[in-house]
Amino acid sequence: MNDIGVIVLAAGQGTRMKSDIPKVLHRLGGTPLFLHALRAAQQLEPSRIAVIVGHGAVAVQQAYSGDDLSWVIQEKQLGTAHAVLCAKPTFLGFTGDILILSGDVPLIHENTLKRLVDQHRGQQAAVTLLTAKLEDPKGYGRIVRDKKQQIARIVEEKDASDLQKQIREVNAGIYVAAAPFLFPALSRVSDQNRQREYYLPDIVAIALSEGQTVANLQVDDAREMTGINTREELARMEKSLQEEINRKWMAQGVTLKDPTTTYIEQGATIGKDTVIGPNTHLCGTTVIGERCRIDGSAYLTDAQLDDEVHLRFSVVLTSCRVANGAIIGPFAHLRPGTDLGRNVHIGNFVEAKEARLGDGTKANHLTYLGDVTIGRDSNIGAGTITCNYDGFQKYKSKIGDRVQVGSDSTLVAPITLGDDVYVATATTVRHDVPDGALVFNDRQERLREGWTEQKRMKMKGTKK
Ligand code: UD1
Ligand code: CA
Repeated sequence: MNDIGVIVLAAGQGTRMKSDIPKVLHRLGGTPLFLHALRAAQQLEPSRIAVIVGHGAVAVQQAYSGDDLSWVIQEKQLGTAHAVLCAKPTFLGFTGDILILSGDVPLIHENTLKRLVDQHRGQQAAVTLLTAKLEDPKGYGRIVRDKKQQIARIVEEKDASDLQKQIREVNAGIYVAAAPFLFPALSRVSDQNRQREYYLPDIVAIALSEGQTVANLQVDDAREMTGINTREELARMEKSLQEEINRKWMAQGVTLKDPTTTYIEQGATIGKDTVIGPNTHLCGTTVIGERCRIDGSAYLTDAQLDDEVHLRFSVVLTSCRVANGAIIGPFAHLRPGTDLGRNVHIGNFVEAKEARLGDGTKANHLTYLGDVTIGRDSNIGAGTITCNYDGFQKYKSKIGDRVQVGSDSTLVAPITLGDDVYVATATTVRHDVPDGALVFNDRQERLREGWTEQKRMKMKGTKK
């Protein structure tokens, strides 16, 4: 679109959230609130973007990694008109139209923004508002129209008369304004109202007093313009966003056994014919392949599963990759840096961190694999521990192909076991083992016949 600028208002504290962190950092679908609005606006390819920050400014800035926008500090939150005015230096010499969005209105769609700009340009308006007709308009600024049904001004809930409060047409808090009109108009806004704030919607009356055109576009789906002011509203929107995301994946051929307990963040993707059980969370940039099975109670963050992976009940996977045909769980924990080959089996109570396992390798019971590389077709017995930490530093272990590690073994890193090594049960391995060798600890096994009975008799004697 032709020369469009964007201003996102994100300086407010969000008092009604009762929170120590700024409202716009509360997450919806895993993404901070203000980033939703910002991303929608970015689809219009604006030439300049200003984000107005104040409360928790540093934290808000840290939540965005790009460098394609200007951060504008609004020291004191004197109102939405004042907030926009703070962006004036960013728009010096800019003569296009400026799209203004609220950081707390996350579901706004790029198409609606485009239509708003089209409407504005078609009408050659000074300012164009996004409006909606609501069943329950409480809390929103009301659109007051004159006898000819032309917009006359906007009155805030707190300033509205009882009669005005009955108006169901509301201001969505999203506007397009011509820059040459906007900044001079903002300087004329006063704070003579109940809240003693400089109201951005007052530019409507100012435009009309200058004989300029004020236009509006009504949104079809009121959800798009719903603002978040309280935790309850946030939870309600999260639910409805979740339903929308779930419907999208089901439409693309994913089975969700219980959509009401399936939480898929916006950045996650799922392949066809994958079946997902109850209480599954797919967070961040998690990628699930085709024909996978997730039995249930799974918490995945930035995880990558190839095709036909089976996650059995109750697993936590974070920043790891799992190749085709692997079976994980039940009760397994794959931590960052874990990379599992094809048909790997990770069983109950196994924890892996920075562990690379070759195709067909198995660790099925009660095992810790940390900072280790294991070749293919090896078997790690129950209760094996890679001792990767001596209290000061972490060390790496390397285990070859077709290695058999007997149950209850401890491998003290740094250590290398060659291919085809055989570790006998209950061995503590402290030194490297060459290919094909057996390693075991010499420990004499002793036996005392009748010992248990003698012990019992003795204990009975000591009983009072
Ligand atoms: C605002 C509108 C109201 C509209 C509603 C739609 C005003 C005066 N009222 O009310 O007509 O119906 O949005 O959601 O604009 N902010 C700043 N600096 C400030 C004040 C606010 O950056 O000094 C930011 C907030 O962080 C927020 C946004 O502006 O992201 C809107 O402010 P908020 O106080 O939530 O306005 P509403 O009362 O919802
Ligand atoms: Ca609001």
